Amino acid sequence: MIVVFGSLNVDVMIAVHHLPLPGETVLGPGYELTAGGKGANQALAAARAGARVTMIGSIGTDPLAETAIADLRAAGVDLSHLAKVGDPTGLAAICVDKAGENHVVVASGANRHTRASQMPAALLGPDTLVVMQMEVPLEENWALIRAAKAKGTRILLNAAPAAAIPAESLGLVDWLIVNENEAKQVALDLQVSAKDARQAAANIARATDTTVIVTLGGAGAAAYLGKGGGFDVPALSIKPIDTVGAGDSFVGGFAAAIDRGLDLPLALRHAAIGGALACLKTGAQPSLPTLAEIEKRLPELPAARVF
Ligand code: RIB
Repeated sequence: MIVVFGSLNVDVMIAVHHLPLPGETVLGPGYELTAGGKGANQALAAARAGARVTMIGSIGTDPLAETAIADLRAAGVDLSHLAKVGDPTGLAAICVDKAGENHVVVASGANRHTRASQMPAALLGPDTLVVMQMEVPLEENWALIRAAKAKGTRILLNAAPAAAIPAESLGLVDWLIVNENEAKQVALDLQVSAKDARQAAANIARATDTTVIVTLGGAGAAAYLGKGGGFDVPALSIKPIDTVGAGDSFVGGFAAAIDRGLDLPLALRHAAIGGALACLKTGAQPSLPTLAEIEKRLPELPAARVF
């Protein structure tokens, strides 16, 4: 099973002609309120991709809390370990321009109260895959990584948004997933060279003996193994409308595929398709594909290339 430890937000999505520059006000015609948060998005992506999922995190007691969890509940995600705290539910203000580029600002609110101690000990062990991101207090992530590893739990860390990660924690995760900027940031923190995102990922993998997966937008994705070498896949050919949640769809789809026992190259293809399909609708959670939708597009992606 999959346990996602992370953030839940409500996203205020505003379509704009262009993204505001510092000090600039831009007008949009209206807004949509959708559920979001990297943790919740990844939990929902994994559930839609066929996995049994528990979500651990925090929401407020405000009316937005119900918006934040409605899609997770509808998908059958176990929400019994969510904390209800005094701060308001997390909220993300998201502008998307005509080209599909975005600006995201997150008011963390309740997410700042998420604690590793919310994770029931009984959920940790070799049958569980814990999925984490970086929108909750980071020391709680590091504590959970230690506790999870001590019980043989498989661990996937998505270093989004980028922040410093202790080398000790990186060495304990089984899969690190990063986008191009995050790859370079993590490599810089580790003091390994990062001429480009692929080289950064390769060097992080070697330095930490962890499998590092880097998403490369229109160029697909690549997995670098700690012992050297790896696999890559091209991107599905699509016309993106809105990329919000695409990374989360990749992570959730990858986690579900690994949890189902698929090997790394095939899981990478599932993830790449999941990420691409999430770019075809506006909003993070409304765009996350089902397993059937992912499998239907599999023939369009060649087998992963070994390098
Ligand atoms: O990755 C997309 C997510 O980032 C949005 O749903 C928003 O809530 C922010 O957390």
